[in-house]
Amino acid sequence: MANRIPEEKVEQVRSAVNIADFIGQYVQLKKAGKNLFGLCPFHEERTPSFSVNEQKQIFHCFSCGRGGNVFSFIMDLENLSFPEAVVKVADFGHIDLPASYTAQSQPAAPKDQQQADLLKLYADSAKMYQHILVNTELGEPALKYLHERGLDDETIKTFGIGYAPANQLLLDFFKEHQTDYQLLRQSGLFIENQAGDLRDRFVDRVLFPIKDASGRVIAFSGRILKKSPNEPKYLNSPETKLFNKRSVLFNFDLARGPIRQQKSVVLFEGFMDVIAAYRSGIQNGVASMGTSLTDEQIYMLERVTDTLYVCYDSDMPGQKATDRALKLLGGNSRLNLGVIQMPDGMDPDEYLRAQGQEKFVQVFEDGKQTPTAFEMQYLKHDLNLQNTPDQLTYLQAVLQQLAQLSSSVEQDLYLNQLVAEFDLDKDDLKQQLRSLVGQQAVRRGGGHSDEPQVAPPPAPAPLGPPPATVDGSTNSGPLSRVEKAERLLLYRLLNDHDVWLRVMAIAGFHFVHDSYQQILVYAEAYFKTHNQFDLGNFTDFMTDSDLQPVVTSLEFMDVANESSKEEIADLVNVIMNQQPLVEQINSKKAELTAAKQIGNRDLVQQLTLALIDLYRQQQQVQRADN
Ligand code: UTP
Ligand code: MN
Repeated sequence: MANRIPEEKVEQVRSAVNIADFIGQYVQLKKAGKNLFGLCPFHEERTPSFSVNEQKQIFHCFSCGRGGNVFSFIMDLENLSFPEAVVKVADFGHIDLPASYTAQSQPAAPKDQQQADLLKLYADSAKMYQHILVNTELGEPALKYLHERGLDDETIKTFGIGYAPANQLLLDFFKEHQTDYQLLRQSGLFIENQAGDLRDRFVDRVLFPIKDASGRVIAFSGRILKKSPNEPKYLNSPETKLFNKRSVLFNFDLARGPIRQQKSVVLFEGFMDVIAAYRSGIQNGVASMGTSLTDEQIYMLERVTDTLYVCYDSDMPGQKATDRALKLLGGNSRLNLGVIQMPDGMDPDEYLRAQGQEKFVQVFEDGKQTPTAFEMQYLKHDLNLQNTPDQLTYLQAVLQQLAQLSSSVEQDLYLNQLVAEFDLDKDDLKQQLRSLVGQQAVRRGGGHSDEPQVAPPPAPAPLGPPPATVDGSTNSGPLSRVEKAERLLLYRLLNDHDVWLRVMAIAGFHFVHDSYQQILVYAEAYFKTHNQFDLGNFTDFMTDSDLQPVVTSLEFMDVANESSKEEIADLVNVIMNQQPLVEQINSKKAELTAAKQIGNRDLVQQLTLALIDLYRQQQQVQRADN
């Protein structure tokens, strides 16, 4: 791991560069009042709603809600990580950062000469193999094979695919270039016999370059052209100084940007699946190297996203592998999980070729399953549900799964499916579930928490809209009275430490909307290590969070400079009095949605009436307050 850039250094970069100059490279800005305005670079628009405040060194788009400081700007615009953004801004301000920091953003500097030489050797080999594939007669059968599998020339270029012909070639090529013999031995590109003679490792195979996270070739995987019983379908490079199978994900270099953009990654089984998806526009896909995910790979993914979809082959071995992957990830990562399965037992690449691009893409849009839904289907695989004993086994296994869910609404949803499918009494099932939950709690309490935890379902819309200014429901239209109060109070809390101390002393104070409450939690942590609030610094402190635009949008409010004790008391009052009602309303709404989904009409009616009553109470409170 490369070094973290220390806060002072980040501070130095931020204060040396004026945000208006930096953004000015990308957006034409014009002064209007105390702010600068321009056309937002994040979406199409005719009239400027993108605004930069030079005094506070922040930006905010009144239309899409994006906002933040100079680093968030370039992170969003170019899909950079935080350190990459700092390096880029430092570059612009001609500030030298020590090489140990810049190494994060540019390909890591080779540790030693030998590593550099190996990288060069691989780069040259990849070029050479691709040349053979695309430009020579020797490559024709392989090129034909790839074309038949639906890969066009552009895809072949993008992935750097090549061909190792049937006769020795690479060795001669490097000999001609008088490459060091020891280097060739260590490269893994050759096989050495007892006499110490080398010969090409890859012979008559299509070669897929394996690249590191910066896109440099570090190994090959070679696919045989025609099935052969005595040879593996794919032959991989051996482990070398460059290549450690455990810490490489196929296509991670190209997928990183799309993963960030779409806030999710798709995990495939095979290279060909990744490539098939890529050329259909699903570009956030990666594959491990023919094994289950390692901790290193999980860590790589966790740094760029929080949602992962497993999209393995939908035949039986693929489903088994999916089940394993879900259990592994459920226990070892904080990723939200989901499953995407191709219909008819196909692997993604087969399905694309059989059904065409449109249907293929559709599966990614409509075919997402929660891990629980997948398990409920998977658990049936070797049971005969016509038999009562098998039915019981199945129900028991499903209830075990459901007992691990943290959301009772979700539990209810699946319980209803079981009720409908097996014509059972819901109360009985509920009771069984409750006793299982109790048993699991006891077991956990006793320190045996090693059973796999099922993660919550993935976010519903991974290809979702840009970060909202505030919690989704309140994003458009005029703000509610409570939310206005929340925004003003949060602004005061951050900018006036007296207010902070006063409000934090109120027992049980918390914001109604999650976003504001989360910012408050961040701020608490922030004030433990920082004496003073600094907007730019605090925004960085919240890196990786959708909350940055919310904080910067506060700064664009029109507020009086000074606050009074009365103002604060009023704000607190509005927020705290509304809270219980709003919470009740939100939970009733969630129950109502679930009830509608499962089609329980009585419940829908009952909940609707309850909601109406709550709204009525809320209106009364608001009238009384006004
Ligand atoms: P598959 O056999 O599902 O590969 O193995 P695939 O991607 O569908 O291949 P095609 O479509 O037949 O060309 C999945 C992955 O397992 C690894 C490879 O990484 C492959 O992509 N594998 C498979 C090997 O490493 N060696 C093998 O012999 C077979
Ligand atoms: Mn395949």
